[in-house]
Amino acid sequence: MGHHAGAGATTSAVNLALGLAAFGRSVLLMDLDSQGHASRAFGYTGTTRGGTESALREAVISRDMIVATKVTEIYLAPSGPWLADIEKELAPMDDCYTRLYQALATQPWP
Ligand SMILES: Nc1ncnc2c1ncn2[C@@H]1O[C@H](COP(=O)(O)OP(=O)(O)OP(=O)(O)O)[C@@H](O)[C@H]1O
Ligand SMILES: [Mg+2]
Repeated sequence: MGHHAGAGATTSAVNLALGLAAFGRSVLLMDLDSQGHASRAFGYTGTTRGGTESALREAVISRDMIVATKVTEIYLAPSGPWLADIEKELAPMDDCYTRLYQALATQPWP
């Protein structure tokens, strides 16, 4: 999906997660928007740094980056306003385009 403001990206991601959960699938929803609307949709109001910011910075996903939600099957890697700064931090890195992929490859569950 393109990056047009208000195109329904967050709504689609949230409902895709809910739809997969309704079919009994486990879902990790990674909120990569510094606005944090998807995180808020699942009741996340935390302000602690971590979540997808740490996943991108460290190219790793660990349990401390993930929170449970009120939907049993859905786990959330939350975002926060600090995510907006990470783009210029990652840009000089050789592997900047694959860091999310690398992080997903380390997910700590089957
Ligand atoms: N299929 C839809 N039908 C009706 N309204 C929708 C639909 N999808 C999204 N909306 C509404 O459009 C608005 C923007 O949606 P959403 O926040 O999902 O877009 P976005 O692409 O994530 O925007 P942003 O660039 O702000 O992140 C919201 O008020 C949402 O409720
Ligand atoms: Mg959005």
